[in-house]
Amino acid sequence: MPDLEQLVVQATADFSAAGEISRLEEAKAAYLGKDGSLTALLKGLGRLSPEERKAAGAALNAAKADIEAALAARRAALRRAQLAAQLAAEAIDVTLPGRGQTPGTIHPVTRTLERIEQLFRSIGFEVADGPEIETDWHNFTALNTPENHPARSMHDTFYLLDEQGRVRADVLLRTHTSPVQIRSMLAHVEKYKHLERMPEIRVICPGRVYRVDSDATHSPMFHQVEGLWVGENVSFADLKGVMADFLRRFFESDDLKVRFRPSFFPFTEPSAEIDVAFMHGPMEGRWLEIAGCGMVHPNVLRAGGIDPEKYTGFAFGMGPDRLTMLRYSISDLRLFFDGDLRFLRQFQ
Ligand code: PHE
Repeated sequence: MPDLEQLVVQATADFSAAGEISRLEEAKAAYLGKDGSLTALLKGLGRLSPEERKAAGAALNAAKADIEAALAARRAALRRAQLAAQLAAEAIDVTLPGRGQTPGTIHPVTRTLERIEQLFRSIGFEVADGPEIETDWHNFTALNTPENHPARSMHDTFYLLDEQGRVRADVLLRTHTSPVQIRSMLAHVEKYKHLERMPEIRVICPGRVYRVDSDATHSPMFHQVEGLWVGENVSFADLKGVMADFLRRFFESDDLKVRFRPSFFPFTEPSAEIDVAFMHGPMEGRWLEIAGCGMVHPNVLRAGGIDPEKYTGFAFGMGPDRLTMLRYSISDLRLFFDGDLRFLRQFQ
C-alpha cells in the first residue's frame, strides 16, 4: 500500500497548481478518473484478504474523501476568482457624470401658433380644431364656392383615392382652415339652441392645410389660423380693430402699419387682404401680405345654421408661417419643414 498521506498531499498540490477549471478537471482525472491512481488502489482491494481489506478500505476511503474535499475547495476558489475577474472587467463606474440629454426646442411655427392663441384668448376667443381630411362640402360648398371655382381643380387641391384608385369627389385635404368656420357655427348653434339669444361666436382655429404648390415661399403643407367672430352688429370696424391690435401686439411694435386692401373670397363680402409694413428693420417700408379677411357671406352664415338677418360676423385666415418668417427674419419657408437641427436649435 503506497503512502496515502503523500498521495493526498500530492493531489492537493496538483489541484492548487491548476490555474483554471479545465486544468483542474484534468488533475482530478489523474486521481479519481477511470484510470486514476486512487481508483486503481480501490480496485486492488478485491485482491486482499477480508481482514486486510477492511483496514485498507477505510484508509482509502478517508484518502478519497480528503482528495474530493481538496478538489471542491479548489473548484470553489477558481470559480470565485473567475467571477471576481469578470466583475472587474465589466464594472460600471456609477460615479461618472451622465452623457446628458439635449432638451428639444419648440418649433418656431409652434411658438407663433401658441403666441397667436394666447393673444386671441386674451380678448375672449376660444381655440377650435377641425379635421385635415375634410369633406368637399365643408371645404368648398358650404363656403359659397361654386362648382367651377379654380381652387376645386386637381392642380390646386389634393384629393383622395378610393379603394379602386379612383379620385373621390367627397373628401380632400383641406385647402384652408375656413371649413372650421362652418363646423364652429353648426356646433355653436346646436349647443345653444335652447337659448332665445345665441351667445357670440369668437373662435380661432390654428392648423395644417394643403395645396399643390412648392417653391421657396410655398410648401404643399403649411399652416393657417382661421378666426371667426359672429354676433349682433359685428362690423368691419371690429375686424379692423381686432386685427390691427393683434398685429401690433404680435410684432411688439406700436408703429406697425396695417392696411386693408380690397380683395375677393367667395365666402366673405366685402373681402380684403391685410398687409403690414414695419417702420424699422430690414423690411422697413415694404408692404407684406399676411392674411385674408372679410365679412362672412350670408350664404356661409346660412350653411352654418345662422340667420344672416339677425347676425353678422367677420372672418380672417392668416399665415403663421409667414408671420414667423417676418418675426425671426427667415427667408426660406422650407427651412421650417426640413428638420435641420442647426436651424431649429437657434430657437432655444
Ligand atoms: N381661406 C382664405 C385663404 O385660404 C383666407 C380667408 C379666411 C379669407 C377667412 C377670408 C376669410 O386664402
